[in-house]
Amino acid sequence: MAESACEYKPGLEGIPAAQSSVSYVDGGKGVLEYRGINIEELAKNSTFLETAYLLIWGELPTTQELAKFEADIIEHRWIKYHIRDMMKCFPEGGHPMDALQASAAALGLFYSRRALDDPQYIYQAVVRILAKIPTMVAAFHQLRNGNDPVKPVGDLGYAGNFLYMLTEKKPEPLVARIFDVCLTLHAEHTINASTFAALVTASTLTDPYAVIASAVGTLAGPLHGGANEEVLAMLKEINSVENVRPFVEERIAKKEKIMGFGHRVYKVKDPRATILQSLAERLFDLIGFDNYYEIALELEKVVGEKLGHKGIYANVDFYSGLVYRRLGIPTDLFTPMFAIARVAGWLAHWKEQLSINRIYRPTQVYVGNHNIQYVAIQERNGR
Ligand code: ACO
Repeated sequence: MAESACEYKPGLEGIPAAQSSVSYVDGGKGVLEYRGINIEELAKNSTFLETAYLLIWGELPTTQELAKFEADIIEHRWIKYHIRDMMKCFPEGGHPMDALQASAAALGLFYSRRALDDPQYIYQAVVRILAKIPTMVAAFHQLRNGNDPVKPVGDLGYAGNFLYMLTEKKPEPLVARIFDVCLTLHAEHTINASTFAALVTASTLTDPYAVIASAVGTLAGPLHGGANEEVLAMLKEINSVENVRPFVEERIAKKEKIMGFGHRVYKVKDPRATILQSLAERLFDLIGFDNYYEIALELEKVVGEKLGHKGIYANVDFYSGLVYRRLGIPTDLFTPMFAIARVAGWLAHWKEQLSINRIYRPTQVYVGNHNIQYVAIQERNGR
């Protein structure tokens, strides 16, 4: 078929770009499953690391497998002093997602062996990446505030240890549990923009650190993982419940997006937003209410009234920002925390891609000219 005869779909909407058994979304019914298990069940019963194991290896681990996986991750939580010193040179005002992308790519310098057909190499890479990404996020945060990074501790779980490295305070068990559930909810979501970036990079058979760095860069954009930061900026701008309706009306009139709403796949409320909303409420019961919550509730109501007919409802980013804010986490770390979780999904897709690999090389619909003559520079100057 000639290239010009191909049907072009902007954003590849509705075009399958992979076959995958990692996760499943029914956007009409608001269903999300990881390896066939409903997200509500995992949020209730599993932990982030157990869920990561499920996503990457395809089945829930035994007690022994999970214990080994957790112990290996604890052992690899440290980062080399070269990485720490490199991070010290990053500008304090730089965005933590840029710092994370650079640090993730730098890991490839230290673990450069590319034995992609060796299961032991794959296991080690998975462990290293899952273990070191949270340490690097927390280290950049400490360094930009003029502090040395806080060393990871072995007696805290994955989520608790991250919060500890960020604040130097051991979190309440319920707070650590709530954050762990947030990680589970963000761990995977079929073939979104960052996962697609990971797949394209993986398909060249480069190292897994380049795969993760590529995905982190993609997640950083405001239409993807960056939306949770924008949600908080928007709630701040709205400032009161009374301002919600005029704000929504103005945005719609100007054809501007309301952040934290809408999804390419979900045409009902994102199931993760529902779970995050109840987690936010549990957190408020434990450590006090957040005045942005009332604004958020009113915003959800008004957007539902005005845009519900288009299938635009709250997405995962709408309530995650409120939970993180209440945990005292700086706004510009929201997307890196999304990345910490999503690493599990990216690694699952990387591993799946390796098993069926063919390099991505799509086609395009050329809309330019042909047979244009080269014009010498002196003849172009009078244009
Ligand atoms: N606010 C207002 N209108 C919206 C919104 C929104 N948040 N989202 C979609 N629409 C409208 C569009 O204006 C468009 O209307 P039209 O058909 O009258 O022109 C229609 O719905 C379709 O919108 P698209 O942008 O074409 O939908 P697409 O599937 O390409 O985009 C996206 C999905 C990027 C998530 C979009 O809904 C959006 O920009 N939302 C705000 C940003 C956001 O919250 N992103 C996080 C998504 S979740 C995640 O990535 C983890």
